[in-house]
Amino acid sequence: MKIPMVDLKVQYQGLKDEIEEGIGEVLETARFILGPNVQSLEEEVASYCGVKHAVGVASGTDALHLALRACGIGAGDEVITSPFTFIATAEAISYTGARPVFVDIDPRTFNIDPDLIEKAITGRTKAVLPVHLFGQPVDMDPIRDICRRHSLRIIEDCAQSFGADYGSVKTGAIGDAGCFSFFPSKNLGCYGDGGMVITDDDTVAEEVRVLRNHGSRIQYHHSSIGYNSRLDEIQAVVLRTKLRRIDAFNGRRRANAARYTEILVGSGIVTPFEDEKGLHVYHQYTVMSDRREELRQALADQGIASAVYYPIPLHRQEVYGKEWKGVSLPVSEETASKVLSLPMYPELSRVQIEEVCDTLTEVL
Ligand SMILES: Cc1ncc(COP(=O)(O)O)c(C=O)c1O
Repeated sequence: MKIPMVDLKVQYQGLKDEIEEGIGEVLETARFILGPNVQSLEEEVASYCGVKHAVGVASGTDALHLALRACGIGAGDEVITSPFTFIATAEAISYTGARPVFVDIDPRTFNIDPDLIEKAITGRTKAVLPVHLFGQPVDMDPIRDICRRHSLRIIEDCAQSFGADYGSVKTGAIGDAGCFSFFPSKNLGCYGDGGMVITDDDTVAEEVRVLRNHGSRIQYHHSSIGYNSRLDEIQAVVLRTKLRRIDAFNGRRRANAARYTEILVGSGIVTPFEDEKGLHVYHQYTVMSDRREELRQALADQGIASAVYYPIPLHRQEVYGKEWKGVSLPVSEETASKVLSLPMYPELSRVQIEEVCDTLTEVL
């Protein structure tokens, strides 16, 4: 049985009529950029996340970049983040002229280890950028406490955690700004690129609105050098359709994860740890094994997809490697050598999960 990592076609079949009707209306009205659907989506996401403002932008990378700039991060500053994430997290910091400072992760959650943050703070540190990796919320209380004591901003990378809770608060609504990616395979994904910044801070929201639109508040009046980073109406239609179902989608991801764990626990594979302080939304179901390559091969032989997120931590990437040469972040390095993500999407069936697990347990 062929099993992909994600199956966006099957989800589209269930949403087809609603999405096509909405896109049809956009085509009829010919209002394509920053129109009524983007405005409604912004209101709906703000209400869903319990914040005052949501600002649609062109991608998750832009959401991070613009949020950092709106929080006043710039040349010469340092921003503490995780080395075990997608490159965009650090790229966004580098775009501002600031320097990403990598702090090792907690081996159970794969998220930045709050206990190691304080040691990394210098006179140049301006912000902490935690990443809620694979849909698991970072333990934010100690980070909030550190940032309050050192007057640091918090910008959350929520690219993989739309709908996840920490306590009773949505990820993204905890720090000064939360940044979402709507890349198609994300928990809330559109049919192209898209992103969003959420915040309770009026100044940050206003600054992101200006930056996303060429530094302009009034058409053809430019107060700063901004960007072309707007969300379009067609993507907003897709996102509004999916937002109405996001809790059900995330619920199915959680049920799929529970089924995987039920079968795999005790098999020799390390199944994902769920931190009870938060609600994990399983953007990825990621296990660990010393025999990863053998497992990957066995899955591939059966037509089952798997992926390694991420094989090289950012301090070992060519682009940051020179600066970080000789610095070891051992947990990230070891984790990167053992992680394996298995197929995960809401529509994944029990039979498919059982087939993936049978293939793995046979090897073990
Ligand atoms: C953790 C993380 N941060 C940032 C991004 C960047 O988002 P985008 O691809 O929408 O620019 C992604 C997604 O690709 C991601 O997984």
